[in-house]
Amino acid sequence: MHELESRTVKSVTSLRGEFVVPGDKSISHRAIMFASLAQGESRISGLLRGEDCLSTLKAFQNLGIEVVEKADDELIIHGCGLDGLQEPTDVVDCGNSGTTMRLMSGILAAQPFFSILTGDHYLRKRPMGRVINPLSAMGAKILGRDGHSKAPLAIDGGGLHPAEYHSPIASAQVKSALLLAGMQIEGTTTVYEPHLSRDHSERMLRFFGADLESFGGGAKVTGRVQLEGRDVEVPGDISSAAFFIVAGLIVPNSELLLKNVGVNPTRSGVIDILQQMGGSIELTNQRELSGEPVADLLVKSSDLQGVEIGGDLIPRAIDEFPVVSVAAAFAEGVTIIRNAKELRVKETDRIAAMCNCLGSLGAQIEPLDDGMRIVGGKLLSGGEVNSFGDHRIAMSLAIAALGAAGETRILDTTCTETSFPRFWELLPLISEGRVF
Ligand code: S3P
Repeated sequence: MHELESRTVKSVTSLRGEFVVPGDKSISHRAIMFASLAQGESRISGLLRGEDCLSTLKAFQNLGIEVVEKADDELIIHGCGLDGLQEPTDVVDCGNSGTTMRLMSGILAAQPFFSILTGDHYLRKRPMGRVINPLSAMGAKILGRDGHSKAPLAIDGGGLHPAEYHSPIASAQVKSALLLAGMQIEGTTTVYEPHLSRDHSERMLRFFGADLESFGGGAKVTGRVQLEGRDVEVPGDISSAAFFIVAGLIVPNSELLLKNVGVNPTRSGVIDILQQMGGSIELTNQRELSGEPVADLLVKSSDLQGVEIGGDLIPRAIDEFPVVSVAAAFAEGVTIIRNAKELRVKETDRIAAMCNCLGSLGAQIEPLDDGMRIVGGKLLSGGEVNSFGDHRIAMSLAIAALGAAGETRILDTTCTETSFPRFWELLPLISEGRVF
C-alpha cells in the first residue's frame, strides 16, 4: 500500500513552459506485453516507468522473460514467442493496475499452466467479471473471490476455443483481453463493442505482425500467427498532458507547449471537449511514432464555457473526466457529463471523489448516476482534500488548486507514481516559467 504523503499547492498567476510529457501508460503496458510474446528482440523507448507499467514488467519477468535495462525510459525485451512463457512460481502482483490484471487474464487463460493474479486493495475491489465471463465462454478456467468476479484470480490455463463476443461496455481492457486470448489459439475471435474504445492493442499487435483486423464496431484476430520483435517508440501520454492542458487554460496569462503527445483519435476526446468549451489548443508538428499519431500541443489561457458531454466522446476521454470537471468548475455556465457510469469503477469512484473534493473547495458540482453536473464560474477557495489513493484525482486536485484562492492541501499523494512519477517536481517548475 502507498505510504500516505500530502502536498500543498498554492494558487498561481501565470504558467509558462515547454516540456515533454511522460510515456503513454496504455501503450507502455502493451509494448512490454507484446514484445514478451514476440519472437526475438524488441527495443522499447519512451517507456513510462510508472508503478503500473513496472507491475507489468515484473509480471513478465516472473513468467521467464529476460529484460535488459538500457536507460530510464528504454528497455530491450527478449521475447519468447507465443509458447515460451513459463509457469510463475509465485503469485503475480498487478499492484494498482487494472490494465495489467485484465490483459494478463487474457494472455494467461490461453497458457498451459497455473497462475494467480492479485493486486493492491483498490484493484482487489474492482470488477473482473467483465473479463472472466467472456473468457470463460471461450473455455477458460478462472476462479476468483465474490462469485468469480474479483481478484485474486486463479487461472488454470489452456483449452480455449475462439468466440464472438458482444461487449456491453466500451472497454479497451475487455476487448484487449479477448483479442490476446484469441491471438494464441487456432481460429478467429471477434469482439464487438458499443462505442470504439482505445485501439492501441489493435495497432500494436498489427505492428508486431498479428493477423488482426479492425472494423466499425470491433476487431477480430486469427490466432497462432507468431509475433516478431519490433522497436517501439512510446509517445507521450495524453492523459498526463491533460492536467497541464487544463492548467494552461484556466490559469490567466499562461502559455504551455507540451511536446510529443499521443493524439490517437480514440484517446483525444479531451482535446475535443476542451476546444468545444472554448479552449485554445493548437496541434503542431503532427507525425507518427510506431503506428500512433503524435503532436505538440500549444495551450493558451482561455475563457471557457460549459458543455454537454456524452455518447462516443465518453470512451475517448474516459480517464480525463476528473480534470475535465476541474475545467468545468472554472468555465462559465453549466457542464453536464452523462453516459459515464464507468467512472464509478475506476481506481476509485471518480464521480463521488470529484464531487466530494471540488465541492469542498467551493465548486457547485453534483453527482448524477452516470456522470456529473457542474455549474461553473464560482471562485474556488483553498482547503484540504483527499485523493482517495487515485492518481488522477490527486493530479486533478493539484490543477484545481493552481486556480483556487490561497493554499490547498492534498492528502494521499504518493499514488501519482502510478502514471506520472515526476508530476510534483514538474508542477512548481512550470509555475516558475522554466523550460525543460
Ligand atoms: C485502459 C483502458 C481504460 C482506461 C484505463 C486504461 C487500457 O479502461 O480507463 O486507464 O490501457 O486499456 P477500460 O478498458 O476499463 O475502459
